[in-house]
Amino acid sequence: MKETVEVFIPEENLNRRIGEMAAVINNDYKGKTLHIICILKGSIFFTCELAKRLDMPVKIDFMQVSSYGDGMQSSGKIKIIKDTDSPVTGKHIMIIEDILDSGRTLSKLIEYLKEAEPASLAVCTLLDKPSRREYPVAVDYNGFEIEDEFVVGFGLDYAQRYRNLPYIGILKIEQD
Ligand code: IMP
Ligand code: MG
Repeated sequence: MKETVEVFIPEENLNRRIGEMAAVINNDYKGKTLHIICILKGSIFFTCELAKRLDMPVKIDFMQVSSYGDGMQSSGKIKIIKDTDSPVTGKHIMIIEDILDSGRTLSKLIEYLKEAEPASLAVCTLLDKPSRREYPVAVDYNGFEIEDEFVVGFGLDYAQRYRNLPYIGILKIEQD
């Protein structure tokens, strides 16, 4: 089996788009403190690049979730592997995701966070594959809409590899 990665979104395009997203967010959150929650591990690169470009007071927290929980039933809750260090209650929260696929992880995470009654809750994703959606999610900030391709790099992995690539690439697996 041979794996190759084809450059899909170069680093310059990612940074340009993240700059545009930050400009919109800066305008929307003027005068507020924004609490961003980076969803580990895929969102680390995006969170760093976005946060560097924000100009309101920003606090950064982390969550790690697994979408499968303890069973295989499709209505099961997500499993929280790591919760935020500080409570979200009464705060302006923004979830930072790498990619939105079926929407399962995010829709469950939104339900979970809303129970703690944040002042507001926004969703910001770098990539979105709308054709794959099974669970509706209202996205507030989206970097790129993409086709149904498996992408890696800029935080995104295939079997924990390729996260370190500075660009988003399409993974091709060829049988030999
Ligand atoms: P969802 O719950 O189906 O929306 O899945 C979202 C999660 O699946 C993302 O946070 C990623 O970890 C993973 N994922 C979905 N599509 C891709 C992809 O193309 N490359 C790498 N990871 C992906
Ligand atoms: Mg992942």
